[in-house]
Amino acid sequence: MNLRHTPQPARARDDEGHAPAPHIAVDRARSTGPDAALKIRARDVNVFYGEKQALFDVALDVPEKAVTALIGPSGCGKSTFLRCINRMNDTIPGATVRGRIEIDGEDVNDKGIDPVVLRARVGMVFQKPNPFPKTIFENVAYGPRIHGIASSKSELEGIVETSLKRAGLWNEVADRLHQPGTGLSGGQQQRLVIARAIAVSPEVILMDEPCSALDPIATAKIEELMDDLRSQYCIVIVTHSMAQAARVSQKTAFFHLGKLVEAGPTGDIFTNPRDSRTQDYITGRFG
Ligand SMILES: Nc1ncnc2c1ncn2[C@@H]1O[C@H](COP(=O)(O)OP(=O)(O)O)[C@@H](O)[C@H]1O
Ligand SMILES: [Mg+2]
Repeated sequence: MNLRHTPQPARARDDEGHAPAPHIAVDRARSTGPDAALKIRARDVNVFYGEKQALFDVALDVPEKAVTALIGPSGCGKSTFLRCINRMNDTIPGATVRGRIEIDGEDVNDKGIDPVVLRARVGMVFQKPNPFPKTIFENVAYGPRIHGIASSKSELEGIVETSLKRAGLWNEVADRLHQPGTGLSGGQQQRLVIARAIAVSPEVILMDEPCSALDPIATAKIEELMDDLRSQYCIVIVTHSMAQAARVSQKTAFFHLGKLVEAGPTGDIFTNPRDSRTQDYITGRFG
Protein backbone atom coordinates (compact mmCIF):
# COMPACT_ATOMS: atom_id res chain seq x y z
CA MET A 1 0.00 0.00 0.00
CA ASN A 2 1.28 3.42 -0.80
CA LEU A 3 0.38 5.65 2.13
CA ARG A 4 2.57 8.55 1.16
CA HIS A 5 3.80 10.23 -1.94
CA THR A 6 7.33 8.83 -1.90
CA PRO A 7 7.41 5.04 -1.45
CA GLN A 8 9.67 3.79 1.34
CA PRO A 9 11.44 0.44 1.45
CA ALA A 10 9.60 -2.22 3.39
CA ARG A 11 11.25 -3.87 6.37
CA ALA A 12 11.87 -7.51 7.14
CA ARG A 13 9.77 -8.97 9.88
CA ASP A 14 10.58 -11.17 12.79
CA ASP A 15 8.32 -13.39 14.83
CA GLU A 16 5.70 -11.98 17.14
CA GLY A 17 7.11 -11.13 20.50
CA HIS A 18 10.67 -10.58 19.39
CA ALA A 19 12.50 -7.29 19.12
CA PRO A 20 12.08 -5.52 15.79
CA ALA A 21 14.59 -6.64 13.19
CA PRO A 22 17.25 -4.25 11.99
CA HIS A 23 16.24 -2.23 9.00
CA ILE A 24 16.63 -4.69 6.18
CA ALA A 25 15.07 -3.62 2.93
CA VAL A 26 12.89 -6.28 1.32
CA ASP A 27 10.37 -6.06 -1.44
CA ARG A 28 7.44 -7.50 0.43
CA ALA A 29 5.10 -7.30 -2.51
CA ARG A 30 7.29 -9.68 -4.48
CA SER A 31 8.30 -11.79 -1.53
CA THR A 32 7.30 -15.42 -1.81
CA GLY A 33 8.66 -16.36 1.62
CA PRO A 34 6.67 -17.17 4.73
CA ASP A 35 5.87 -13.49 5.27
CA ALA A 36 4.31 -12.99 1.85
CA ALA A 37 0.86 -13.19 3.41
CA LEU A 38 1.53 -10.73 6.25
CA LYS A 39 -0.43 -7.48 6.01
CA ILE A 40 -0.14 -5.79 9.38
CA ARG A 41 2.67 -6.19 11.85
CA ALA A 42 2.29 -4.63 15.31
CA ARG A 43 5.18 -4.52 17.75
CA ASP A 44 5.68 -3.00 21.21
CA VAL A 45 2.37 -1.19 21.03
CA ASN A 46 1.63 0.77 24.21
CA VAL A 47 -1.36 3.09 24.43
CA PHE A 48 -2.18 5.56 27.18
CA TYR A 49 -5.29 7.63 27.84
CA GLY A 50 -3.74 10.38 29.92
CA GLU A 51 -1.96 8.55 32.74
CA LYS A 52 -3.92 5.35 32.30
CA GLN A 53 -2.27 2.66 30.23
CA ALA A 54 -4.72 0.74 28.04
CA LEU A 55 -2.33 -1.48 26.01
CA PHE A 56 0.94 -3.07 27.13
CA ASP A 57 3.59 -4.19 24.63
CA VAL A 58 1.16 -5.66 22.15
CA ALA A 59 2.68 -7.65 19.29
CA LEU A 60 0.51 -9.15 16.57
CA ASP A 61 0.86 -10.30 12.98
CA VAL A 62 -2.28 -9.89 10.91
CA PRO A 63 -2.48 -11.99 7.75
CA GLU A 64 -3.53 -10.70 4.34
CA LYS A 65 -6.75 -12.04 2.79
CA ALA A 66 -8.09 -13.47 6.02
CA VAL A 67 -10.32 -12.53 8.93
CA THR A 68 -8.54 -11.96 12.23
CA ALA A 69 -10.75 -11.84 15.33
CA LEU A 70 -9.86 -9.87 18.45
CA ILE A 71 -11.58 -11.31 21.50
CA GLY A 72 -11.45 -10.67 25.23
CA PRO A 73 -13.46 -9.22 28.10
CA SER A 74 -14.89 -5.72 27.92
CA GLY A 75 -12.30 -3.00 28.54
CA CYS A 76 -9.29 -5.18 27.67
CA GLY A 77 -8.19 -2.88 24.83
CA LYS A 78 -9.61 -4.46 21.67
CA SER A 79 -11.10 -1.24 20.29
CA THR A 80 -8.00 0.68 21.34
CA PHE A 81 -5.83 -1.71 19.35
CA LEU A 82 -8.13 -1.53 16.33
CA ARG A 83 -7.93 2.27 16.41
CA CYS A 84 -4.12 2.10 16.34
CA ILE A 85 -4.27 0.55 12.88
CA ASN A 86 -5.93 3.51 11.17
CA ARG A 87 -4.75 6.11 13.69
CA MET A 88 -8.21 6.86 15.00
CA ASN A 89 -6.63 7.23 18.46
CA ASP A 90 -5.07 10.45 17.09
CA THR A 91 -8.54 11.93 17.26
CA ILE A 92 -8.95 11.16 21.00
CA PRO A 93 -7.64 13.98 23.20
CA GLY A 94 -5.03 12.72 25.67
CA ALA A 95 -4.44 9.43 23.85
CA THR A 96 -0.79 8.49 23.24
CA VAL A 97 0.30 5.62 21.03
CA ARG A 98 3.84 4.19 21.18
CA GLY A 99 5.33 1.37 19.18
CA ARG A 100 5.16 0.23 15.59
CA ILE A 101 2.18 -0.66 13.47
CA GLU A 102 3.32 -1.55 9.99
CA ILE A 103 1.08 -2.09 7.00
CA ASP A 104 3.00 -3.69 4.17
CA GLY A 105 6.14 -2.85 6.11
CA GLU A 106 5.37 0.82 6.45
CA ASP A 107 4.89 2.40 9.88
CA VAL A 108 1.47 4.05 10.01
CA ASN A 109 2.75 6.50 12.64
CA ASP A 110 5.58 7.71 10.44
CA LYS A 111 5.56 11.49 10.06
CA GLY A 112 5.22 11.17 6.28
CA ILE A 113 1.93 9.26 6.50
CA ASP A 114 -1.21 11.22 5.74
CA PRO A 115 -3.89 9.95 8.17
CA VAL A 116 -6.64 10.83 5.70
CA VAL A 117 -5.07 8.62 3.03
CA LEU A 118 -4.43 5.95 5.65
CA ARG A 119 -8.07 5.92 6.74
CA ALA A 120 -9.24 5.44 3.17
CA ARG A 121 -6.87 2.48 2.84
CA VAL A 122 -7.93 1.13 6.20
CA GLY A 123 -11.71 1.33 6.36
CA MET A 124 -13.62 1.08 9.61
CA VAL A 125 -17.06 -0.22 10.49
CA PHE A 126 -18.53 0.42 13.93
CA GLN A 127 -21.01 -1.35 16.18
CA LYS A 128 -23.78 1.10 15.44
CA PRO A 129 -24.28 1.54 11.69
CA ASN A 130 -23.47 5.16 10.92
CA PRO A 131 -24.66 6.07 7.43
CA PHE A 132 -24.37 9.74 6.54
CA PRO A 133 -27.67 11.67 6.46
CA LYS A 134 -27.61 11.39 2.67
CA THR A 135 -29.06 9.12 0.02
CA ILE A 136 -27.92 5.52 -0.37
CA PHE A 137 -26.10 6.54 -3.56
CA GLU A 138 -24.38 9.50 -1.92
CA ASN A 139 -23.26 7.43 1.06
CA VAL A 140 -21.25 5.21 -1.26
CA ALA A 141 -20.23 7.93 -3.73
CA TYR A 142 -18.90 10.22 -1.01
CA GLY A 143 -15.48 8.59 -0.54
CA PRO A 144 -14.63 8.13 -4.23
CA ARG A 145 -15.67 11.74 -4.80
CA ILE A 146 -13.54 13.33 -2.05
CA HIS A 147 -10.57 11.15 -2.93
CA GLY A 148 -10.97 11.92 -6.63
CA ILE A 149 -11.24 8.24 -7.53
CA ALA A 150 -13.88 8.55 -10.27
CA SER A 151 -13.21 10.67 -13.35
CA SER A 152 -16.77 10.75 -14.65
CA LYS A 153 -20.36 10.42 -13.50
CA SER A 154 -20.72 7.02 -15.13
CA GLU A 155 -17.52 5.79 -13.51
CA LEU A 156 -18.83 6.95 -10.14
CA GLU A 157 -22.13 5.15 -10.77
CA GLY A 158 -20.16 2.04 -11.63
CA ILE A 159 -18.21 2.23 -8.38
CA VAL A 160 -21.41 2.69 -6.37
CA GLU A 161 -23.04 -0.31 -8.05
CA THR A 162 -19.98 -2.55 -7.68
CA SER A 163 -19.53 -1.59 -4.03
CA LEU A 164 -23.18 -2.23 -3.20
CA LYS A 165 -23.00 -5.57 -5.02
CA ARG A 166 -19.85 -6.55 -3.16
CA ALA A 167 -21.53 -5.63 0.11
CA GLY A 168 -24.49 -7.84 -0.79
CA LEU A 169 -26.94 -4.94 -0.76
CA TRP A 170 -27.52 -4.09 -4.42
CA ASN A 171 -30.58 -6.27 -4.96
CA GLU A 172 -32.31 -4.68 -1.99
CA VAL A 173 -31.61 -1.03 -2.89
CA ALA A 174 -31.15 -0.82 -6.67
CA ASP A 175 -34.62 0.73 -7.08
CA ARG A 176 -34.22 3.28 -4.28
CA LEU A 177 -30.69 4.58 -4.56
CA HIS A 178 -31.86 8.15 -4.06
CA GLN A 179 -33.68 7.52 -0.82
CA PRO A 180 -32.01 8.22 2.53
CA GLY A 181 -29.55 5.62 3.79
CA THR A 182 -30.92 6.11 7.27
CA GLY A 183 -34.26 4.66 6.09
CA LEU A 184 -32.78 1.19 5.71
CA SER A 185 -32.97 -1.53 8.37
CA GLY A 186 -30.06 -1.89 10.80
CA GLY A 187 -28.58 -4.82 8.92
CA GLN A 188 -28.93 -3.02 5.60
CA GLN A 189 -27.35 0.11 7.06
CA GLN A 190 -24.39 -1.94 8.23
CA ARG A 191 -23.96 -3.37 4.71
CA LEU A 192 -24.31 0.18 3.33
CA VAL A 193 -21.49 1.31 5.59
CA ILE A 194 -19.40 -1.64 4.40
CA ALA A 195 -20.18 -0.64 0.79
CA ARG A 196 -19.05 2.90 1.66
CA ALA A 197 -15.76 1.53 2.99
CA ILE A 198 -15.27 -0.72 -0.05
CA ALA A 199 -15.95 2.14 -2.49
CA VAL A 200 -12.51 3.68 -1.91
CA SER A 201 -10.75 0.34 -2.56
CA PRO A 202 -9.36 -0.21 0.93
CA GLU A 203 -6.85 -2.94 1.66
CA VAL A 204 -7.82 -3.43 5.27
CA ILE A 205 -11.29 -3.34 6.80
CA LEU A 206 -11.58 -2.95 10.58
CA MET A 207 -14.88 -3.92 12.17
CA ASP A 208 -15.60 -3.13 15.80
CA GLU A 209 -18.40 -5.45 16.94
CA PRO A 210 -20.22 -4.96 13.64
CA CYS A 211 -23.07 -7.32 14.52
CA SER A 212 -23.71 -6.36 18.15
CA ALA A 213 -26.69 -4.21 17.23
CA LEU A 214 -28.12 -6.65 14.68
CA ASP A 215 -30.64 -9.48 14.82
CA PRO A 216 -29.51 -13.05 14.01
CA ILE A 217 -30.58 -12.91 10.36
CA ALA A 218 -28.78 -9.62 9.71
CA THR A 219 -25.80 -11.00 11.64
CA ALA A 220 -25.69 -14.09 9.43
CA LYS A 221 -25.67 -11.85 6.34
CA ILE A 222 -22.73 -9.81 7.64
CA GLU A 223 -20.84 -12.98 8.55
CA GLU A 224 -21.45 -14.37 5.06
CA LEU A 225 -20.23 -11.09 3.64
CA MET A 226 -17.04 -11.18 5.74
CA ASP A 227 -16.33 -14.65 4.45
CA ASP A 228 -16.81 -13.39 0.93
CA LEU A 229 -14.73 -10.24 1.36
CA ARG A 230 -11.74 -11.99 2.85
CA SER A 231 -10.70 -13.27 -0.56
CA GLN A 232 -9.80 -9.66 -1.36
CA TYR A 233 -9.18 -7.84 1.89
CA CYS A 234 -7.44 -8.08 5.20
CA ILE A 235 -10.24 -7.98 7.76
CA VAL A 236 -9.84 -7.42 11.50
CA ILE A 237 -12.95 -7.84 13.59
CA VAL A 238 -13.62 -7.25 17.27
CA THR A 239 -16.34 -9.52 18.54
CA HIS A 240 -17.88 -10.43 21.87
CA SER A 241 -19.26 -13.59 20.37
CA MET A 242 -16.93 -16.53 20.62
CA ALA A 243 -19.19 -18.42 18.23
CA GLN A 244 -18.82 -15.62 15.71
CA ALA A 245 -15.03 -15.57 16.06
CA ALA A 246 -14.98 -19.32 15.51
CA ARG A 247 -17.28 -19.06 12.47
CA VAL A 248 -15.73 -16.16 10.62
CA SER A 249 -12.05 -15.91 11.51
CA GLN A 250 -8.92 -17.77 10.51
CA LYS A 251 -6.77 -16.14 13.19
CA THR A 252 -7.80 -15.19 16.72
CA ALA A 253 -6.04 -12.93 19.22
CA PHE A 254 -7.08 -12.97 22.86
CA PHE A 255 -6.65 -9.75 24.86
CA HIS A 256 -6.85 -9.50 28.64
CA LEU A 257 -6.27 -6.40 30.80
CA GLY A 258 -4.49 -4.56 27.99
CA LYS A 259 -2.18 -7.42 27.08
CA LEU A 260 -2.30 -9.71 24.12
CA VAL A 261 -2.27 -13.07 25.88
CA GLU A 262 -2.08 -15.29 22.83
CA ALA A 263 -2.80 -15.35 19.13
CA GLY A 264 -2.89 -18.13 16.60
CA PRO A 265 -5.01 -20.07 14.13
CA THR A 266 -8.62 -19.84 15.31
CA GLY A 267 -8.99 -23.61 15.58
CA ASP A 268 -5.98 -23.81 17.91
CA ILE A 269 -7.11 -20.95 20.14
CA PHE A 270 -10.54 -22.48 20.62
CA THR A 271 -9.56 -26.12 20.98
CA ASN A 272 -6.09 -25.98 22.45
CA PRO A 273 -5.25 -22.63 24.05
CA ARG A 274 -1.80 -22.40 25.63
CA ASP A 275 -2.71 -19.92 28.34
CA SER A 276 -5.10 -20.63 31.22
CA ARG A 277 -6.61 -17.12 30.85
CA THR A 278 -7.61 -17.92 27.28
CA GLN A 279 -9.03 -21.24 28.41
CA ASP A 280 -11.03 -19.50 31.14
CA TYR A 281 -12.40 -16.92 28.75
CA ILE A 282 -13.42 -19.27 25.96
CA THR A 283 -15.10 -21.59 28.44
CA GLY A 284 -17.07 -18.68 29.87
CA ARG A 285 -15.38 -18.54 33.25
CA PHE A 286 -15.01 -14.77 33.03
CA GLY A 287 -15.81 -11.90 30.74
N1 LIG B 1 -11.44 7.64 24.91
C1 LIG B 1 -11.00 7.06 26.04
N2 LIG B 1 -10.61 7.82 27.07
C2 LIG B 1 -10.16 7.25 28.22
N3 LIG B 1 -10.08 5.93 28.43
C3 LIG B 1 -10.47 5.13 27.44
C4 LIG B 1 -10.95 5.64 26.19
N4 LIG B 1 -11.26 4.60 25.38
C5 LIG B 1 -10.98 3.49 26.09
N5 LIG B 1 -10.51 3.79 27.31
C6 LIG B 1 -10.09 2.84 28.35
O1 LIG B 1 -9.11 1.98 27.81
C7 LIG B 1 -9.35 0.64 28.20
C8 LIG B 1 -9.55 -0.22 26.97
O2 LIG B 1 -10.76 0.17 26.36
P1 LIG B 1 -11.27 -0.41 24.97
O3 LIG B 1 -10.16 -0.40 24.01
O4 LIG B 1 -12.50 0.34 24.62
O5 LIG B 1 -11.62 -1.91 25.38
P2 LIG B 1 -12.55 -2.99 24.65
O6 LIG B 1 -12.79 -2.53 23.26
O7 LIG B 1 -11.78 -4.25 24.74
O8 LIG B 1 -13.82 -3.07 25.45
C9 LIG B 1 -10.54 0.67 29.14
O9 LIG B 1 -10.07 0.72 30.47
C10 LIG B 1 -11.25 1.94 28.77
O10 LIG B 1 -11.94 2.47 29.86
MG1 LIG C 1 -14.58 -2.08 22.30
